[in-house]
Amino acid sequence: MSAHSIEESSAGGSSYPRRTFAIISHPDAGKTTLTEKLLLFGGAIREAGAVKGNKARRHATSDWMEIEKQRGISVTSTVLQFQYRDRRINILDTPGHEDFSEDTYRTLTAADSAVMLIDAAKGVEPQTIKLFEVCRMRGIPIFTFINKLDREGKDPLALLEELEEVLGIRSCPMNWPIGMGQDFRGIYNRTDARFERFTHRNEEVTNIDATDLDSPELVQVLGAELHARLKDEVMLLDIAGDPFDANLVAKGLLTPVFFGSAIANFGVETFLNEFVDLAPGPTPRRTEDGAVVEPGDAGFSGFVFKIQANMNPAHRDRVAFIRVCSGTFSRGMNVTHVRTGKKISLSQPQQFFGQGREIVDEAYPGDILGIFDPGLFRIGDTLCERGSFQFEKLPQFSPEHFARVSVKNTLKYKQFHKGIDQLTEEGAIQVFRQANRTEDLILGAVGQLQFEVFQYRMKAEYGAEVEMFTLPYSFARWLETNVDVEQLNFDRYSNIVVRDQDDRLVILFQTEFAIRWMLERNPDVKLHSTSYGLA
Ligand code: G4P
Repeated sequence: MSAHSIEESSAGGSSYPRRTFAIISHPDAGKTTLTEKLLLFGGAIREAGAVKGNKARRHATSDWMEIEKQRGISVTSTVLQFQYRDRRINILDTPGHEDFSEDTYRTLTAADSAVMLIDAAKGVEPQTIKLFEVCRMRGIPIFTFINKLDREGKDPLALLEELEEVLGIRSCPMNWPIGMGQDFRGIYNRTDARFERFTHRNEEVTNIDATDLDSPELVQVLGAELHARLKDEVMLLDIAGDPFDANLVAKGLLTPVFFGSAIANFGVETFLNEFVDLAPGPTPRRTEDGAVVEPGDAGFSGFVFKIQANMNPAHRDRVAFIRVCSGTFSRGMNVTHVRTGKKISLSQPQQFFGQGREIVDEAYPGDILGIFDPGLFRIGDTLCERGSFQFEKLPQFSPEHFARVSVKNTLKYKQFHKGIDQLTEEGAIQVFRQANRTEDLILGAVGQLQFEVFQYRMKAEYGAEVEMFTLPYSFARWLETNVDVEQLNFDRYSNIVVRDQDDRLVILFQTEFAIRWMLERNPDVKLHSTSYGLA
């Protein structure tokens, strides 16, 4: 299905079509800066410096009390919504830094496309790779913005090669930078043969018609050397580059690439305009039975992709974030909570605009709602107005940190298990059990900070102090259900077999080498880095 046919099928009536996306990047690539510029264009904020969410939390490191204070910010920045042209834009926040967690991955399941932000000097970095893999798994379109052209960076052609070599995705530059750092002169937009001129003095951007690449104005602005280079590179891209193909973009096989400088607000508007035209609207979603729910289907439906606990112990409420998949949501409507079969009324749904939040009366496919959760919701729960169906399960992702956990005071065993059960439902941690070791459990988390949060909340909310011992594993790999573990040939001294919370078989490995070793010796066995489809 092409990006445009998705658009046409999107529901909306009088509502504006939605564009729901996440920005994926490595810390410091400029996500906060870019988000801020996008919000400025959308009129959601009036001045730069208003988006403090990520930055503020960066300093939180391991001081959990500090994080608690910041909590309000992180809740409101889960999704930022603004109007741009005739579209409603929803930017999903993917926390980075210390609070990089499974939530970060899971948020991507609620997005219809992703913007991959890359620092021109650093290229493709580790956190970007991880987030990219999740996008690829979902086959969603990925748009690339290469940032910080106002500074010296890698050669643009080398950056494209890196995308292909490291990420395995083909790229199609939509514009092309001329010069870099001190010599940065601007970008040539390939779609409309327009040259956007950059100056280091923060002057208004001027456009030069570059239909004729030999235009005297262009030669004058670039100087002979850069002008010759522009001509060579544009020709090279035309001859040897991948042409734009909406179909490949829609499948996530080709990424349109834009260059710019977020801090100088250069290339951002051009990017936003093209992105809004090319990015898909709300995509159809599959149910567990393999049926497809189209955004235009009558009857509201949605799924919970994130649960955020309110860290204030005086208010034990949690917020469940729901991605609207079909129909029209209206405040107070009665829906079926499919897992329990209960009918519930969705009162007080909230949406987030820039920094504020407000009660919403209506929401459409692609929108994100925050609902106060009395403890009913779990990650992946489906809500629907008509009939009863369950959206495909959300995957569990491989944790990177593991620790053995036990309760300090065995009299608190009940509280310990209640806490573990609830925190696992929220999806902040994963729990694994080892055969013959029932007295303690193994916890897994994508980010180290989750363990500290866990320890703190177990004590504060459940009254159970826990002891944790870090384990040397770094990878969880799910086995398919038909595997006979006893027959597997692998190093059982360094790596262990466990079961996850849904009783699926998992091996915890210490190194990638150990994974390869095992695969070589057991050629028929498949290992999965997520639990996806292995229920
Ligand atoms: P993040 O959310 O991805 O972590 O990145 P953030 O926007 O906070 O940007 C990280 C650093 O990169 C910031 O500098 C920011 O000013 C800078 N930056 C962002 N975009 C650009 C760009 O287009 N060009 C250049 N040259 N720098 C850019 P900082 O020194 O860490 O913070 P600050 O003191 O400037 O706020």
